[in-house]
Amino acid sequence: MADVRLRPATRDDVAFLVRQYSPEVCAPWNWFGFRSETDILRQLDDDGFLGPGHGNLIVELVGEADPVPIGNVSWHAVDHGPPPASRGWNVGITLVPEWRGYGHGTRAQRLLAEHLFTTTVAERVEASTDVENTAERRALERAGFSYEGVLRRAQFRGGGWRDLALYSLIRGEAG
Ligand SMILES: CC(C)(COP(=O)(O)OP(=O)(O)OC[C@H]1O[C@@H](n2cnc3c(N)ncnc32)[C@H](O)[C@@H]1OP(=O)(O)O)[C@@H](O)C(=O)NCCC(=O)NCCS
Repeated sequence: MADVRLRPATRDDVAFLVRQYSPEVCAPWNWFGFRSETDILRQLDDDGFLGPGHGNLIVELVGEADPVPIGNVSWHAVDHGPPPASRGWNVGITLVPEWRGYGHGTRAQRLLAEHLFTTTVAERVEASTDVENTAERRALERAGFSYEGVLRRAQFRGGGWRDLALYSLIRGEAG
């Protein structure tokens, strides 16, 4: 049976990642502008998309056939007090359109949270998404995240300021 796994990006993923940052894949919820092949290659060479305060992994479907890349997840540090004690992670995800709606987004975000709780001392993983992004809000809830409230006009996207719904998962909470 097919399952989802997360793995670091390689140079073989550059074309896939360029498409991941295109409006065809990102719009409307994650569209913040194009990302060039040069920029992606530079970051791959710099730190493999795995720095101390941020990261980016390929979401892959594995099963009987060859692994298929179906999206990417990312995270960055959010400090709610002087670091490092109060450091948490804010996570994000984009699946390619043809692989949405199969539960993979739920699974990938759960796997990412488990990865961060396993490899860092963070107590809190958070995620924010447009208040109107029903699929992501449901995926986060299914992954065990709790709704915390609205971040008013927190994100500039699509030519305007958007309200975000904030969710969190605390270490030890069940999925
Ligand atoms: C958001 C996203 C990660 C969700 O992953 P997914 O694999 O498509 O979602 P799942 O199959 O795990 O479904 C999660 C829930 O959302 C619902 N859902 C899925 N697509 C939906 C849609 N287009 N509209 C409304 N609800 C939807 C599912 O029915 C399910 O809810 P349920 O448990 O009540 O049935 C994925 O759709 C995606 O990458 N979207 C584009 C990028 C994006 O919005 N990223 C987050 C921005 S911060």
